Amino acid sequence: MRAAVLHEYGPPENLRIEEVDCPPVGPRDVKVRVRASSLNPIDWKCRAGTQRLVMGWKLPWVQGMDLAGEVVEIGAEVEHFAVGDEVWSSPSHKRWGTWAEFCVVDEAELGHKPPSLSMEEAASIPLAGQTAWQCLVPHVSEGDRVFIQAGSGGVGTLAIQIAKAHGAWVATTCSERNHALVRELGADRAVDYRSENWWEALDELDLILDSLGGEERWRALRSVKRGGRVANITTGLPHNVETYGAALGTVATGLGIARFWAGGKLRGVDAATVVRSARRDLLDGLAGLIEEGKLAPCIDRVYPLEEIAEAHRYGETGRIRGKVVLRVD
Ligand SMILES: NC(=O)c1ccc[n+]([C@@H]2O[C@H](COP(=O)([O-])OP(=O)(O)OC[C@H]3O[C@@H](n4cnc5c(N)ncnc54)[C@H](OP(=O)(O)O)[C@@H]3O)[C@@H](O)[C@H]2O)c1
Repeated sequence: MRAAVLHEYGPPENLRIEEVDCPPVGPRDVKVRVRASSLNPIDWKCRAGTQRLVMGWKLPWVQGMDLAGEVVEIGAEVEHFAVGDEVWSSPSHKRWGTWAEFCVVDEAELGHKPPSLSMEEAASIPLAGQTAWQCLVPHVSEGDRVFIQAGSGGVGTLAIQIAKAHGAWVATTCSERNHALVRELGADRAVDYRSENWWEALDELDLILDSLGGEERWRALRSVKRGGRVANITTGLPHNVETYGAALGTVATGLGIARFWAGGKLRGVDAATVVRSARRDLLDGLAGLIEEGKLAPCIDRVYPLEEIAEAHRYGETGRIRGKVVLRVD
């Protein structure tokens, strides 16, 4: 099968399109003909090598953490899927990834694709959607005041819609060029982080989704109401690895997570570091909102698999509006 293979940690050019053998299908596995995938910031962090101890990959490695496609083969013990089903997933990082013509996924990490979405639309959602869902659900309720950092990004565009679907008042940050976009997605208040401080502009916040990390997560802890929640999704691992090296940087990141949690305890705040879980029930929750018309994909650009290096370069600019999708013909 054709796949985007990473041979060495480093720049985007280290990803090469080549022929590799598809991994075998285990008893609980489903083999999927991948039609589309998408990119997430974890992909360029992994490619650069800063997550190497956490991921434990042995190069060469097929990257990619989102897919939409059709089932072509099932293992002997698979219960929920049949050949021909249209599916979506963000499989675990422990197995070869989705930037390939075929991907073998544990059935617990696979869901039925929402029928109303195209393959490209569906592939834009799983990882970012599961992350946003875990940060917000079941914590957000009717009338809550929710603040979502970087509302125009992959996680933010979905998080705004999920929070609105649960009846929250939603504020978000992004530069002014993206204010119309986040308002269309349902944001009640858009703060231009280049000219305004969100912690001065917003008050009485019940829940903050912090996707920036660093000083911002501590600011979030100080700004949220007592009894509220800060869900942080950016641990600072790449920065720590660059500063202290792979081993010490990984340990420093773990200590930072513990300090953040303890800081929350002292302030009476649920200070959570959320790591996306590949579970099917989260995919089903997202699919439910999509079919109710309350959640829609937000796609910035689509690249063919062959242009994976170019897609990485664009992603790394940090200026994506929604998601970058990969077409796998
Ligand atoms: N823990 C997990 O499991 C998990 C899962 C998914 C993602 N993440 C992490 O979460 C972070 C966000 O992911 P993502 O996919 O949403 O990223 P993304 O799509 O790359 O975010 C890009 C967006 O961020 C906005 N932005 C950039 N700087 C900003 C700032 N200072 N304040 C407010 N907005 C800013 C940009 O808007 P402008 O162009 O208007 O500036 C752009 O639209 C990444 O670090 C990613 O690795 C973690």
